[in-house]
Amino acid sequence: MKLWGGRFEKETDQKVEEFSSSLLTDSKMWISDIKASIAHARMLGYQNIISIQDSEKIIQGLLEIAEEIKSGQYVFNPKAEDLHSEVENYLARKIGDPAKRLHTGRSRNDQVATDTRLHLAEEVKFLIEDIQILKKELLLQAEKNTETILPGMTHFQHAQPVSLAHHLLAYFWMLERDRERLQDSYKRISSMPLGSAALAGTGFPLDREQTRVELGFEKVTENSLDAVSDRDFVIEFLSNASLIMMHLSRLSEELIIWSTPEFGYVELGDEVTTGSSIMPQKKNPDVAELIRGRVGRVYGALFGSLTMMKGLPLAYNRDMQEDKIHLFEGLETVKSCVKMTDLMLKKATWKKEKMLNSLKNDFSNATDLADDLVEKGIYFREAHAVVGQLVQFCIKQGMGLEDLTVDQLKKSHSLFDEKSKAKLDHCAVMKARNSEGGTSPTAVKVQIQKAKATLG
Ligand code: ARG
Repeated sequence: MKLWGGRFEKETDQKVEEFSSSLLTDSKMWISDIKASIAHARMLGYQNIISIQDSEKIIQGLLEIAEEIKSGQYVFNPKAEDLHSEVENYLARKIGDPAKRLHTGRSRNDQVATDTRLHLAEEVKFLIEDIQILKKELLLQAEKNTETILPGMTHFQHAQPVSLAHHLLAYFWMLERDRERLQDSYKRISSMPLGSAALAGTGFPLDREQTRVELGFEKVTENSLDAVSDRDFVIEFLSNASLIMMHLSRLSEELIIWSTPEFGYVELGDEVTTGSSIMPQKKNPDVAELIRGRVGRVYGALFGSLTMMKGLPLAYNRDMQEDKIHLFEGLETVKSCVKMTDLMLKKATWKKEKMLNSLKNDFSNATDLADDLVEKGIYFREAHAVVGQLVQFCIKQGMGLEDLTVDQLKKSHSLFDEKSKAKLDHCAVMKARNSEGGTSPTAVKVQIQKAKATLG
């Protein structure tokens, strides 16, 4: 039954009903809908807006409905207009007339905004937990690899050697900022619209504080027009989710590249890879590719919701029903991608030899040779040119800087000595990067302590 049939003479076209139904999407937040209705009904009873008996019957009926949905005994009618009418109609079939009082002082406009915020607040807490789990895994692997060395890149060319720990911790900090952003957004999500009614508030003496406390919101919304028509908390979440996905896609991309035979820095687990139906030798990094690919879903959701809200006049407009399509698409995607990244890392085996070997003849120790001259008083620009010429010489000879003899070094500059040669060892190069936030094991150990502190 429609919640609003009274003023209509003709039935809604069936195609319009199908076109406008949101049940398949918003039924995902049925727990929040029922919780919010229970809190509203309890408050109506306490305030004598409805009788305590009716309030109790409504609450009892809603609790039963929740049990039936949970056990699968009650299945939503996919043709229903939306979750709110579906639950209210079922309640009416269950408890009769008292159900007709539930919607007193309430509109679906404040109801849907309340449900969505309640649902998202819960989900954000879970997502933060999953991010912490992933960060823990990165940290664990970093702790084991402070001495594992590989070429650090700029422009995707060998630049300077770094430790695997340092590389993994770079992702740790990206995710820590992602967690921080989600945590900060929580206070804006946890603001309760219930009590704003359709758009202008209500004349019934609602106690919004009571419902706020029961539902666990941090505050109530200040303006009823804003409360029913604002979806920026959805957009903010999708923007935060987009950043998470962007970070995960970079890690995925590196795992894809690193698992090629050309790199061979990592072997991804059988559990997270797939084979080919024709090429027997294949082991494909599908999970990493799907994470990289699914970024599009979340960016799409972000742009979809931004576009949907653009230019909407106050207050509620039906356009806004689309928010949940975008929100759930983004939410489900980011949730599963965080979990999958964690699994992929847990099943990864780092190939330390391959990483080390790829440093051979790669000139990623060139800066240190120049720095050696600078320490002896030579201008950096001059030192840069001297080493540049040495690099050119080595390329022509098919050797690395580390293969130069002390005599050869001295020939290019008189201030080079035994110690200069020792500095060319790639491990020494990595270990020398002792600045705060640098890649040396000593600096990384300090970093690890700071990282641990974010895990609570
Ligand atoms: N299904 C609607 C939505 O998700 C609920 C609110 C409907 N309100 C209205 N006045 N038609 O936005």
